[in-house]
Amino acid sequence: MQRILVTGGAGYIGSHTCLRLLEEGYDVLVVDNFCNSKSESLERVKQITGRSLTFYEVNICDRNAMQKIFEAHDIDAVIHFAGLKAVGESVQKPMEYYYNNVYGTLVLCEEMAKAGVKNIVFSSSATVYGLSDDVPFAEDAPTSATNPYGRTKLFIENILSDLKIADKDWSITLLRYFNPVGAHKSGLIGEDPNGIPNNLMPYISQVAVGRLEKLQVLGDDYPTTDGTGVRDYIHVMDLAEGHVKALQGPKIENGPAIYNLGTGKGNSVLEVVKAFENENGIEIPYQIIARRAGDVASSYADPSKAEKHLKWKAKLNLQDMVRDAWNWQKKNPEGYA
Ligand code: NAD
Ligand code: UFG
Repeated sequence: MQRILVTGGAGYIGSHTCLRLLEEGYDVLVVDNFCNSKSESLERVKQITGRSLTFYEVNICDRNAMQKIFEAHDIDAVIHFAGLKAVGESVQKPMEYYYNNVYGTLVLCEEMAKAGVKNIVFSSSATVYGLSDDVPFAEDAPTSATNPYGRTKLFIENILSDLKIADKDWSITLLRYFNPVGAHKSGLIGEDPNGIPNNLMPYISQVAVGRLEKLQVLGDDYPTTDGTGVRDYIHVMDLAEGHVKALQGPKIENGPAIYNLGTGKGNSVLEVVKAFENENGIEIPYQIIARRAGDVASSYADPSKAEKHLKWKAKLNLQDMVRDAWNWQKKNPEGYA
């Protein structure tokens, strides 16, 4: 069976993807420096699957350590999640974001090339569609960035595209995720953000569990059905499945393969709140406050390309997402701590 190196595999999306890879019979190696995760997530992945995986506590920027890993194992492909992802923090600490995300990717790809491993699946983001409101977004829509985090994604997309032009042996897949939420149905693994969550679903879950008092709805004057922001929420297990499909996807000759991973359906903040309340029988107190700088009114995917070429389609709906998010949070009120 193929051996996959997963960078950032202890994180939220990485841990769910490792689980699916192990279930599919892949051998899995994880490289993570645990700067935004805990090794407990990987222990639980082993517990759920009954399979083992190897992990290295290594920073992907550490060239020597990365070289040793590629020398020690016969690796077939890399799924590259490792990166910093907080938009606001990236504005405060741009150099940290460029170093970690962009330089880290350069080191990774150079060590891959030296070892003759030329197959990479990269975590990009719908953030590359910038401030456009021309929804749904197809993969050929114009791209731009509005903050350093988004720029790291765009730069890395461009770097990997250039790599493919220079050396056709590479297989490069750029997956643009929309809004990943939810958790594995066991409730053993899930999203465990540091500090106060930036994102909607973990915020709602922490209100539900009593860690936070009420949700702040960031603006109700957008040109959407109820005035609140609309996003394409996608269950993290559907996303994980998208990575398995991407590994098995068709090889493209001239350029990287780029796919949106979204459901194609947008939901407003208030629709998510209502779904959470109805599905879980818990009231979520909220207050409307001002818009957050840099937020767009609506963002959702045209996911038809992934369906056509990867035979992948999101199967889980908003009810599944809010149920599984709550199942994880109530079983782990303090996350992995
Ligand atoms: P996460 O923070 O939970 O996972 C990222 C993992 O990478 C963490 O375990 C962290 O410790 C590790 N890491 C970071 N820098 C590292 C380094 N230099 N060396 C080794 N390990 C390192 O985040 P996530 O939500 O699972 O996101 C995974 C990827 O998907 C990220 O690249 C993120 O930008 C991208 N993405 C996430 C979202 C989202 O909303 N969650 C949306 C679009 C794209
Ligand atoms: N929202 C609230 N209250 C909160 C948090 C969010 O009302 O406390 C609203 C936002 O205004 C937005 C929606 O909920 O309308 C979703 O917000 P998230 O922060 O969960 O997600 P975003 O779409 O803003 O951000 C996500 C990723 C970013 C990425 C961005 C653009 O988290 O990494 O998509 O693709 F940059």
